[in-house]
Amino acid sequence: MTHGPRFTPLIVSLPAAVPFVGPEALERARGHPFRARLGANESVFGPSPRSVAAMREAAGETWKYGDSESFELKAALSSRLGVGPQHLTIGEGIDGLLGNLVRLTVAPGDTVVTSLGAYPTFNYHVTGFGGDLVTVPYADDREDPDALIAAARETGAKLVYIANPDNPMGTWHGAERIAAMIEALPEGTLLVLDEAYIEFAPNGTAPEIDPDDARVIRLRTFSKAHGLAGARVGYAVGAPELIAAFDKVRNHFGLSRVSQAGALAALADESWLSEVRAKVSVARGRIAEIAAACGLKPLPSATNFVALDCGGDGALARRVLAELAERDVFVRMPGVAPLDRCIRVSAGTPVMLDLFEAALPKALAAAREKQD
Ligand SMILES: Cc1ncc(COP(=O)(O)O)c(C=O)c1O
Repeated sequence: MTHGPRFTPLIVSLPAAVPFVGPEALERARGHPFRARLGANESVFGPSPRSVAAMREAAGETWKYGDSESFELKAALSSRLGVGPQHLTIGEGIDGLLGNLVRLTVAPGDTVVTSLGAYPTFNYHVTGFGGDLVTVPYADDREDPDALIAAARETGAKLVYIANPDNPMGTWHGAERIAAMIEALPEGTLLVLDEAYIEFAPNGTAPEIDPDDARVIRLRTFSKAHGLAGARVGYAVGAPELIAAFDKVRNHFGLSRVSQAGALAALADESWLSEVRAKVSVARGRIAEIAAACGLKPLPSATNFVALDCGGDGALARRVLAELAERDVFVRMPGVAPLDRCIRVSAGTPVMLDLFEAALPKALAAAREKQD
């Protein structure tokens, strides 16, 4: 008899998959670091100094597990958002919450709808729990609410996912379009509204949603505008019955004290948030200018990154990305056509964007030469 793990049939059937290879892994493979880290949509401007001080102070208490109920953070979010604690669950980033949500709702063979080329970590969780993914194309580089709803209706989907604003294109819909989407949901379909980038979006992007509305769950994070990607803190707002169910599956001690303290302090520092928003807006403008100077088309963005249309196919954009990496500039790109004609550049510090500005024309020339 052979020894070894006796995997479930589902696990045996899954291909090995990593939704995103991390920049550190890429650096190890390259043998040297990047000089401009512009690929992971992190906030290069960092967390609020108040958040850093709170995390430093909490570090000495790390011998204790975190508060399994994230009580203080939940209370602060509750008063900030005007919802009750029963409407909130805190998790290890949106990524962790998505995993738990899929675990709660998707059995093998259940259908889930998303857009072709949208945020892949959601798909990773769906596949990991045996769900069947149905995808609809983007329309004009934006996720297409009508097509998503139509597919949900046709397939009887348990979940329909939309990120607003969207990753990887950076585009967005106004609140009324999302509100209409909620109204149009077929019975039994839950809208998963991923608002990871909402702090960067214009006013009027986030719809008013009754927190008791059982048709939708909204997901937010401290990873982007609050600059705490490495702390892994996100939260979901939804109807109490759904929120309570997370307690059946979540990792109750998954959040560290340091992360909880950092997030709590970040939430209180409004002026840092405004500063970051302003810096991101300047960086977006600069990325667009750098791109335009090279003849590339920047897409409008309500996020902390800009998608740049390289003017060719996916193969060309992939070569541009590789040539930028050769010049120590880390960016990413959408995975599928027609989105993959773009590269995606995160808002950087002025120094990082100087490096990008210097590297882009050379990378483009090299990428085009290799095409000929
Ligand atoms: C649309 C979207 N959702 C979720 C995440 C991940 O968020 P978190 O760091 O909270 O897991 C990202 C990160 O890039 C994202 O782009």
